Amino acid sequence: MAEETITLPERPEQPLPPVRDWPAGELNATEFEPVLAELMREGPLTRIRLPHGEGWAWLATRHDDVKMITNDPRFSRAEAAVRQVTRLAPHFAPRPGALAWADQPDHNRLRHAVSAAYTVSAVKRLRPRAQEMLDALVDDMVRDGSPADLIARVLEPFPISVVCEVMGVPLDERQKLHDWTREIISTAGGADAAELAKKGLFGWIGQAVRARRDGEGGSAGGSEDVLSLLGAAVRRGELGEEEAVSVAGPLQIGGEAVTNNSGQMFYLLLSRPDLLDRLRNDPAARPAAVEELLRYIPHRASVGLPRIATEDVDLHGVRISAGDAVYVSYLAANRDPAVFPDPDRIDLDRDAGAHVAFGNGPHFCTGAVFSRMQIELLIDTLLERLPGLRLAVPADQVPFRQRTMIRGPLTLPVAW
Ligand code: HEM
Repeated sequence: MAEETITLPERPEQPLPPVRDWPAGELNATEFEPVLAELMREGPLTRIRLPHGEGWAWLATRHDDVKMITNDPRFSRAEAAVRQVTRLAPHFAPRPGALAWADQPDHNRLRHAVSAAYTVSAVKRLRPRAQEMLDALVDDMVRDGSPADLIARVLEPFPISVVCEVMGVPLDERQKLHDWTREIISTAGGADAAELAKKGLFGWIGQAVRARRDGEGGSAGGSEDVLSLLGAAVRRGELGEEEAVSVAGPLQIGGEAVTNNSGQMFYLLLSRPDLLDRLRNDPAARPAAVEELLRYIPHRASVGLPRIATEDVDLHGVRISAGDAVYVSYLAANRDPAVFPDPDRIDLDRDAGAHVAFGNGPHFCTGAVFSRMQIELLIDTLLERLPGLRLAVPADQVPFRQRTMIRGPLTLPVAW
């Protein structure tokens, strides 16, 4: 029998899905972004154009695709840092050396320099001090009397204070750091004020790293604080001074995420008495409930940072070509009905452990363990010390941040 050569048919050229405009709309409290819900219905892979930057990008929304893409070195962050990819943010100034923009092996090297400060055991050691700081803030709020703005009194100052502790900011410098951080994250002062504060903060961090490199500037947190770890790594030649500043900056500002995430969490709890009662009456249910709330909370607007495909990748019969920009949506993955049945319902009895609220893969949030510790303390402390805690205004009158990356209430008026 004559040997037959089998040639596989060329994969037929797939028509590309249409490019969908994803404008930055006003979002209502904790509603799931309607454009994202539509894109999830349109397909596992869609194409989007955001308000700024250039061109279009792929968007992956399913849990398994999001996990695959974020763990696959064929999708590069470093490449995305040197391109004008379509994006939500008007300004784009990635700092060389920032964790979020690095690929391996640089990413490992940079992250290794600070990882000791964010391990489970380091965070456990920090916990009693964090509890003290939280108690002091709640004492002050109670002393001044009901009602109060929970954001201004607790949910903003608490994360900034514990961040200063982890970073190793000396006590007498903390007020200055608080003010810069608040200016950077606030929407009130405008872009110029935020830029000025960033300059101040990054300049201060550079000086602190140099002092620690030279064995000066003793810290509040000992040799395991972030500034000391970075100073020592610079001294050993493992990373450059500029890189150290780029790693430290987002870690110093990162507390903003806890303010806004826990702001949404308390908004949900205080506007849903069934959820609040459950957590009040059943402390053992709290850890799982926190995971379910993390899954459900629409932490950010739109999508985060893109990646660039460095090779052709075929997914669901669609070719993502080398050079294409790709976004994943962790928010969408957290509402994937294949993993979380009835995903738009908060179900405190579900096992939400597979959520990706802190990301996935090498860029998984550095502050995840640290954030969970703060959220646990906030829930335990506020529910136990203020058994009558409730919203002081109707839920639909709580103002939320608009035109922002990270979503959350601007103020949270509470009474007790
Ligand atoms: C990255 C979520 C708190 C520092 C991330 C990512 C997510 C996330 C989704 C992106 C993963 C990716 O790029 O694919 C959150 C949430 C928080 C929180 C929901 C609070 C509830 C914090 C805190 C810090 C922090 C408190 C700092 C102490 C960072 C850093 C990165 C990051 C440095 C970049 C890591 C890397 O690219 O290697 N976070 N975060 N985050 N987060 Fe957080």
